[in-house]
Amino acid sequence: MSLETRTYFNEINFIEIETPYLIKSTPEGARDFVVPSRMNKQQFYALPQSPQTFKQLLMVSGYDRYFQIVKCFRDEDLRADRQPEFTQIDCEMAFVNQQDILDTFEGLIKHLFQKLIGLSFKEKFPVITYEKAMLNYGSDKPDIRFEMKLNYIDSLAKGKGFNVFDQAESIVAISVPNCADYSRKKLDKLTEWVKRPQIGAKGLIYVKLNSDNTIKSSVDKFFNSEDLKQWGNLCGSKPGDLLLILSGNSEEVQKQMNELRLKMGTDLNLRDPSVFKPIWVVDFPLLEKDNETGDFHAMHHPFTSPKSEDLKLIDENPIQVRANAYDLAINGVEVGGGSIRIHNRDVQEKMFALLGFSKEEAKEQFGFLMDAFEYGAPPHGGIAFGFDRLCTLFGGRENIREFIAFPKNNQGRDVMIDAPSKIDIQQTKELGISLEEIEN
Ligand code: AMO
Repeated sequence: MSLETRTYFNEINFIEIETPYLIKSTPEGARDFVVPSRMNKQQFYALPQSPQTFKQLLMVSGYDRYFQIVKCFRDEDLRADRQPEFTQIDCEMAFVNQQDILDTFEGLIKHLFQKLIGLSFKEKFPVITYEKAMLNYGSDKPDIRFEMKLNYIDSLAKGKGFNVFDQAESIVAISVPNCADYSRKKLDKLTEWVKRPQIGAKGLIYVKLNSDNTIKSSVDKFFNSEDLKQWGNLCGSKPGDLLLILSGNSEEVQKQMNELRLKMGTDLNLRDPSVFKPIWVVDFPLLEKDNETGDFHAMHHPFTSPKSEDLKLIDENPIQVRANAYDLAINGVEVGGGSIRIHNRDVQEKMFALLGFSKEEAKEQFGFLMDAFEYGAPPHGGIAFGFDRLCTLFGGRENIREFIAFPKNNQGRDVMIDAPSKIDIQQTKELGISLEEIEN
């Protein structure tokens, strides 16, 4: 894959440039891995979570087409598609708009599909807004190999005396094809599944739209057949389909329904690993709010530009501001993400202020980038693809560990070489650091 990546970029005049690994913190949202410095006692480098600030500086300094196949390091909770060190195909271009970026890198992905697994995509990849993706699929990386979209049945299901629905912010249904004959036992199992802490639903309501046009549901006490039929109509169901319904807080229900939809897709063999369905997700929100602290975080990273038409909202209603940010999802996996960057000092300062940085903190951490913007920075933007995730997908598998030589386990350990491990007391002395005994 690296060879074909280089071939594609070489043909369109991209330059491959390496950037350093011993650096200062980069804000991609995870914790940094840090490296102590012997020559600068009690000071630490951070390993890059991505080469983000360097690639932007390269654009400011006059390179206009950069790429690199690069290791990134993130200290975050590990999952099947996450390793603490992983590889990105990292890219940046100057004097481009969002469409130029989507076109150029869709070209890369099509080239890789063609060369690696002989699959050609004639059509353009579909594009969906973040808002629509969340509404239709409850996910910002929708698996569109199958339909089973989310339907909002609030207007039909509220006000009939069923307390759970009447008190819910949102009532969401999916129509599962040809499953009205699910047994009580199967439905109980599904209910247990959605109630697991990882999913967190309080319960699951079902409506069987039987093939003989009779209807049976877990809420027959509150709704008559005519009511339930209307739910089926709203969901576009056919006789023989099964409605599965969750209710509660809107955001939570969407997330839970996404999980349930994917599970049903898997159970019904609708997620064939030899079928590939890419989709661009665009117009992500600029910020997300931490519900506990009320603080704003950058949804992508702090260098992502707000949509110019939303700038008027930035003081009064920052959470409504959309970003020039995009992800590429394939089969429910986020394989890449990027944005058009801020290239103006004032806007960048404003963004840091929104994120709670004082002027001094912003200057201390990212002064080098904001200073660079003073020299007439070109409009620029880019994207990074997860190399390991792409390999895993092409290989028809789910765990990126199968495509990384010497991967870490879920505790971030390499058990073969036994890393991480303690260091010699002499080493700590040279580094000018002392280790406190802590109880495990
Ligand atoms: P982002 O954080 O979205 O963007 O990362 C880009 C892509 O890298 C992959 N990825 C991972 N793969 C394996 N293990 C991980 N822990 C892991 N984390 C991320 C994903 C993801 O889509 N600097 C920006 C890009 C930009 O704005 O140009 C960035 O790193 O496939």
